Amino acid sequence: MTRPVSVEDYRRLARRRLPRLLSDYIEGGALSESALNRNIDDFKDIHLRQRVLTGVEHVSLKTNILGVDLAMPVVLAPIGLTGMFARRGEVQAARAAKAAGITMFNSSMAICDIREVSKAAGPVWYQLYLMRDRLHMKALLERVWATGCTVLAFTVDVGVPGERQREHRRGMTGDLSFGGQVMRALDGLSHPQWLWDVYLHGRPHSFGNMAEAFDNDGGFAAFWTWARGAMQVAMTPDDIAWIRENWPGKLVIKGIIDPEDARRAVDAGADGVVVSNHGGRQLDSAISGIKALPAVAEAIGDRATVLMDGGVRTGEDVVRALALGAKGCLIGRAWVYGLAARGEPGVAHVLELFRKQMVTTLTLSGCDDVNKISRDMLA
Ligand SMILES: Cc1cc2nc3c(=O)[nH]c(=O)nc-3n(C[C@H](O)[C@H](O)[C@H](O)COP(=O)(O)O)c2cc1C
Repeated sequence: MTRPVSVEDYRRLARRRLPRLLSDYIEGGALSESALNRNIDDFKDIHLRQRVLTGVEHVSLKTNILGVDLAMPVVLAPIGLTGMFARRGEVQAARAAKAAGITMFNSSMAICDIREVSKAAGPVWYQLYLMRDRLHMKALLERVWATGCTVLAFTVDVGVPGERQREHRRGMTGDLSFGGQVMRALDGLSHPQWLWDVYLHGRPHSFGNMAEAFDNDGGFAAFWTWARGAMQVAMTPDDIAWIRENWPGKLVIKGIIDPEDARRAVDAGADGVVVSNHGGRQLDSAISGIKALPAVAEAIGDRATVLMDGGVRTGEDVVRALALGAKGCLIGRAWVYGLAARGEPGVAHVLELFRKQMVTTLTLSGCDDVNKISRDMLA
């Protein structure tokens, strides 16, 4: 491939560069992967009105989400293990996001912790998984706040991990058998560029944000065993209220698909929700983020900010989501493909593709400002 021109091109490049263990981790969804596929396919059924006699020449993408000015209504979704896809991957992605005038969520399961990322690229947003140990949680929230982070996403849809068969097949979830170890070693050795750049020189062996709670020396298998016991499985609005009390910044609840859950989240003090089925990685029968969006947006009204993710692969998808009631979109795999394929320049290029596609879409839809997007634009 000479020059990637789409997210799909970056997907193919990333697949070539990464060991199968990691590309299957990124690509995989739960069970039959139908939720994963629906996320992408359902966008295709949403049609915008083509309005070309409206005299639109210049388009503004600037917006403000949760008190933060952004150059476009796109934020990099939290993705675990990003520092395994590229050397200090979270830092590279945050730099690209900053250069594009947007921001990223640093995942609880990041390799580079939020202190390293914010030191290199300025404040970013943080994604939280709830651990049972409230003292640890309090200390973590204080550390995150001290970096200048103003937006926290509390992810509520991973009380139990989804049944991702690709991960089991590759031994991602802690297969310590001899055969499994040989398979993973061969997988790494057959991707020498990644082995040299990331595995040997990228220090990808510890979960930065978890370092204070878990002794990283035990490796990934030990981490998963620890996480299974440490992670809170059942979640209620009381947990949201607890975080609300202990987090002075904006709080969004990520992993909401149902309007009733959305109401509960906002009643408990959330400033917003991310309509998301976790990229199709959790409940295989869940409806897609884009299908769930209108009902959630209606349930919340103007009481809180509605963001969405899942299957967003183009700037046109972002416009579709905004027409259905979202204030902005998180993109997940789209930026990860760019990072795995080309590092920071890859993420920067993916974001530039999104920017250009949004401008083109809005121009052809007769809308000159992203803040004016409404249901009227739907065909
Ligand atoms: C490889 C991978 C790792 C992820 N890790 C996290 C995570 O650590 N925390 C989280 O809240 N969501 C995580 N997600 C979900 C994303 O934040 C986001 O909801 C999803 O990727 C959106 O779908 P898309 O990939 O189709 O854009 C992950 C998704 C993928 C693909």
